[in-house]
Amino acid sequence: MKIVVIGGTGLIGSKLVNKLREHGHEAVAASPNSGVNTLTGEGLAEALKGAAVVVDVSNSPSWEDAAVLNFFETSTRNLLKYEAAAGVGHHVALSVVGTQRLAESGYFRAKIAQEKLIRESSIPYTIVQATQFFEFLKGLADISVVDGKVHLPHVLFQPMAADDVASAVGRVAVGQPVNGVVEIGGPEQFRVDELVQRRLASLKDPREVIADPNALYSGAKLSEKTLVPGDNARLGETRFETWLTQRAAQIPSAPQPAGVAAVNK
Ligand SMILES: NC(=O)c1ccc[n+]([C@@H]2O[C@H](COP(=O)([O-])OP(=O)(O)OC[C@H]3O[C@@H](n4cnc5c(N)ncnc54)[C@H](OP(=O)(O)O)[C@@H]3O)[C@@H](O)[C@H]2O)c1
Repeated sequence: MKIVVIGGTGLIGSKLVNKLREHGHEAVAASPNSGVNTLTGEGLAEALKGAAVVVDVSNSPSWEDAAVLNFFETSTRNLLKYEAAAGVGHHVALSVVGTQRLAESGYFRAKIAQEKLIRESSIPYTIVQATQFFEFLKGLADISVVDGKVHLPHVLFQPMAADDVASAVGRVAVGQPVNGVVEIGGPEQFRVDELVQRRLASLKDPREVIADPNALYSGAKLSEKTLVPGDNARLGETRFETWLTQRAAQIPSAPQPAGVAAVNK
C-alpha cells in the first residue's frame, strides 16, 4: 500500500516511515526537504499519485499565534484538496490529547482549526490525539521559563515515547478510518512539574522547576486532568525510566521553533 507521510523527516515522521517500510508498505517521506510543501501545494499532486493513505505528522516551523494558525489551516486545506483529486481513501492526522480543552493557547487554536477542517472534509479520516512525547519534556521546560526558573503546574499528565507514538500511528494508518478520534498515551501518570524536573536532572540541567498553580502550558491554564486521555486510550509500552536508558534520551530536544517565548503570565 502506498502511504504518504507528510512531515516524514520529523521526529515522529521518520520513525513512522521506517516502521511502515519494515511492514512492506511503500512509505513516502514528504516534506520541503524532498520538494513537497503543503503550504504552497508544491509537489503534492505528484507525491499523492496512487496513494491509498496520507498521514500528516507535520508541524509548523513557527509557533507564533498567527503563523501557526496559518500553517495548519493552509496546509490542511491544501492536503485535503489534493487528496480528493488523487482519490486518497484515508487521511490520518496527529494531534494532541486535550486539544479541545486548550483553546486559550494559540498553538492549540491552530490544532483545533486543523481538526475541524478534517472533520468537515469528504475524505474518510482518523485523528490520532497523542499525549506529550518524552522527547518534548526538555522543550516543555524551555517554553516555561520565567526569570530563569521553570514554572509548571502540579497537574497530571501521561506522556509517551515518540517510538510508541509512531507505532500507534502506523497501526491506525494501515487500518480502517474511524471518522473520529483515537487517543494514545503512555503507560504511567506523572505530575508535570515533577517529571520535567526528573528529565532536567537526567540531562544534568541545573534549572529548578517551581510548582506554580498559575503557570500556563503553551499559553493555556491547565486543570488536574486537561492533559490526561480518556479510559479508552491505547497505551504505549515504554515506561519513563526505561526510555531514559535508551539512546533517544541522551539527546536534548531540538531548539524551540520561532515564536516560542516564556508563556507564563
Ligand atoms: N511534541 C509533543 O509532545 C506532541 C504531542 C502530541 C502531538 N504532537 C503533534 O505531533 C506532530 C509532529 O510533531 P514532531 O515533533 O514529530 O514534528 P517535527 O519533528 O518538528 O517535524 C515537523 C515536520 O514537518 C515538516 N514540515 C514543516 N513545514 C512543512 C511544509 N510546509 N510542508 C510539509 N512538511 C512540512 C518538516 O519538514 P522539514 O524537515 O523538511 O522541515 C518535518 O518533517 C505535530 O503536529 C504535533 O502537533 C506533538
